[in-house]
Amino acid sequence: QGLTIGIDFGGTSVKIGVVNGHELIARPTPIKTKDYTSPASLIFSIASEVNRLKKEHPNILAIGVGVPGFVHLKKGMVYELPNVPGWSNVYLRDQLTEHTGLPCALENDANCMAYAEWKHGAGKGKEDLICLTLGTGVGSGIISNNRMIQGSTSTAGELGHTSIHYRGVRGTYGNNGSLEDYIGHNEITANAQRAYAEQGYAYTIEQCEPIPLEKNALNGDPIALEIWNGIAEKLACALANACWLLNPEAIVIGGGVAKAGDLLFDPLKTYISNQLAHPFCDELEILPAHFSNEAGIIGAASLARDLIDQPAS
Ligand code: BGC
Ligand code: NA
Repeated sequence: QGLTIGIDFGGTSVKIGVVNGHELIARPTPIKTKDYTSPASLIFSIASEVNRLKKEHPNILAIGVGVPGFVHLKKGMVYELPNVPGWSNVYLRDQLTEHTGLPCALENDANCMAYAEWKHGAGKGKEDLICLTLGTGVGSGIISNNRMIQGSTSTAGELGHTSIHYRGVRGTYGNNGSLEDYIGHNEITANAQRAYAEQGYAYTIEQCEPIPLEKNALNGDPIALEIWNGIAEKLACALANACWLLNPEAIVIGGGVAKAGDLLFDPLKTYISNQLAHPFCDELEILPAHFSNEAGIIGAASLARDLIDQPAS
């Protein structure tokens, strides 16, 4: 039935995988995004890697690529990537096809993750699902009535840019108080550093990364516990709004920051249920993602497979 390639384009690296069904069978060394100064040179390097993989696996049939930002699906174009400078109006889909001879599916990275979780992971079998990835960017993909929501210009489902505070910080993308501006990875570390400083601790930014923050919280450090509690509270605000709008069966949460597990999920569940005194939401499930770092690759590869199985009419 052939193989597909999934590409997970990130701010620091581009991860490429060869996928059989939803099983990752080869995963070459990721390409460092910052080694390339222009989209064209990075695209060329990705395409060369794909061409090399094609020689190793002659039955590769299509490519799927997820990018961390706004895409226009019909045009196959990347509008803009909030955390990767220089990527505006890039016709990524057709350029990859031109260099590799393979059909290519382009999507938002969080939509790829959502697709993987919905088709093969924690959200399998759900008709209404919100999937969230918590990293440098806060991204999401929404499945409603068994379809992934795209919107009129394919930028629907950007939970990270929804507001949790109408007079909050002015975000880069125009919204005041965007969720990502509070609980994006870099904001978490900066806020933690400030919170420790206020209590007289001069912590480095590395000491304020999610992993040490998790360790500290598990050791009973009240500052770290308060930080996780605050993250959960803010996330719950955005998710409760999304629930009122979409009434999902489940919310699936992944990404680096979600690795904190119960430290995040326990207060999150409490905060969300406090804000959803609604019979429709009584059965809402809040689940950790099934796939970890490979969700983006698997989802993109599944979208590539759809290109072959259900070609656009
Ligand atoms: C972008 C999203 C993306 C998310 C995760 C956000 O800043 O706006 O499109 O899905 O980061 O990478
Ligand atoms: Na999305």
